[in-house]
Amino acid sequence: MSLTDSIPNNVDLGSDRKLLRALEKWQPDFLNWWKEMGPDGFQEDKIYLRTAIDVDPKGWATYDYVKMPDYRWGIFLTPREGERQINFGEEQGKKAWEEVPGELRGILRRIIVTQADTEPASVEQQRQLGKTAPSLYDLRSLFQVNVEEGRHLWAMVHLLHQYFGKDGREEAEALLERRSGDADKPRILQTFNEKTDDWLSFFCFTMFTDRDGKFQLAALSESGFDPLARATQFMLTEESFHLFTGETGVERVVQRACELTKQDPNGDARAQGGIDLPTIQKWINFWFSSAVELFGGEISSNAADYFATGLKGRYREAAKYDEHQALGNVYDMTVFEDGKLNQREVPLRNALNELLRDEYVADCTRAVRLWNHTIKKQGVDFELKLPNRRFNRSMGIYSGATFDLEGRPISVEEFEAHRAEWLPTLEDRAYVRSLMVPVYEPGQIANWISPPKKGVNGQPFEFEYVQFNQ
Ligand SMILES: [Fe+2]
Ligand SMILES: [Fe+2]
Repeated sequence: MSLTDSIPNNVDLGSDRKLLRALEKWQPDFLNWWKEMGPDGFQEDKIYLRTAIDVDPKGWATYDYVKMPDYRWGIFLTPREGERQINFGEEQGKKAWEEVPGELRGILRRIIVTQADTEPASVEQQRQLGKTAPSLYDLRSLFQVNVEEGRHLWAMVHLLHQYFGKDGREEAEALLERRSGDADKPRILQTFNEKTDDWLSFFCFTMFTDRDGKFQLAALSESGFDPLARATQFMLTEESFHLFTGETGVERVVQRACELTKQDPNGDARAQGGIDLPTIQKWINFWFSSAVELFGGEISSNAADYFATGLKGRYREAAKYDEHQALGNVYDMTVFEDGKLNQREVPLRNALNELLRDEYVADCTRAVRLWNHTIKKQGVDFELKLPNRRFNRSMGIYSGATFDLEGRPISVEEFEAHRAEWLPTLEDRAYVRSLMVPVYEPGQIANWISPPKKGVNGQPFEFEYVQFNQ
């Protein structure tokens, strides 16, 4: 472990002069990007941040006040346990790759670049949110997520620099040149070009979009390309805080919605200056339907190739499955043909995107159940629901048709007639944005959200998580 280097790392950067120089050359470009596209303002303030300093599961991070541009973005790989093998696909049983096999160079680079691109994209999407944080605790959470997405970019750029030569260095530069939402140079995946300009969207993003990241990273952590497996494994350690921020964030808005609903003589949380449960449901519908797209086509020869070549496994491939070929099996898929939903058997390898989406949907369903438990405890008569995965799709086999929230096929006219009831309207967005006023007093919180159950790192909610540089 080397923390004194210009780039903290546990990959022995010091012994590879060429690589170190390439990364040191990229570092100022990264910092320029951070200053231009990272959180707007707050760069001189001291934030109580977690920094990765080790890969030991019991003590991998420290907490301290840091100015964001001084954050120690480092490169950490989960250490290898003995010799690793390729655990699935055609190469199963062979030694895991330490170098990129020539014939896989193109697709591996594409996988890494696609993952890498999401990291700076989300920082850009969340750039303005600090100005309207509902509490110092939340302001800190936002910046913690942001700096760690920056570190994830570092993790992927390290792989590009170390294993892909000149192409890799060019890709690393391009990652700092694309911009979320930009018409000419957008980020690669559409969800990462959506606006995240209110805090309910931020919580939905970290709940639903970062959760796609969890499953993608988990599938890559099974990879036969060992450096990718170890990089993504460590990223998952940080990622769990992002998911926590989203899941508990939505829960706190739900909790407050219930309190305000009960407080209002007409049961209207909006009349009490809050976000009402039907509005939260619309945000869920929007962000969930956007995030499920990220898993890719339901029937996909790319997914089959990634698996066959040993690049991307199933979720918990090594631990969960006892056969690792996914051959001779079929996936019973619901398809939409001739205006009807039909069941069709798809060779399992071609259905691996859908299989990963199943894991994701199950995890989201679990979270919605918890939120409903909160509502029930408050004695409010309302149930949140996850929309069906066919709802509001613009990619994949369901994208040519329209479906209701339960996934039943409906006409375009019917969908449009319900649009304002199912998805955020401009008025809804304007209303939610109107509630977004900053609360920067320690221990204080905006009216539309409940305080968290616990503070950070054993500190109370009242702790001064951000010290402003007056
Ligand atoms: Fe990330
Ligand atoms: Fe994340």
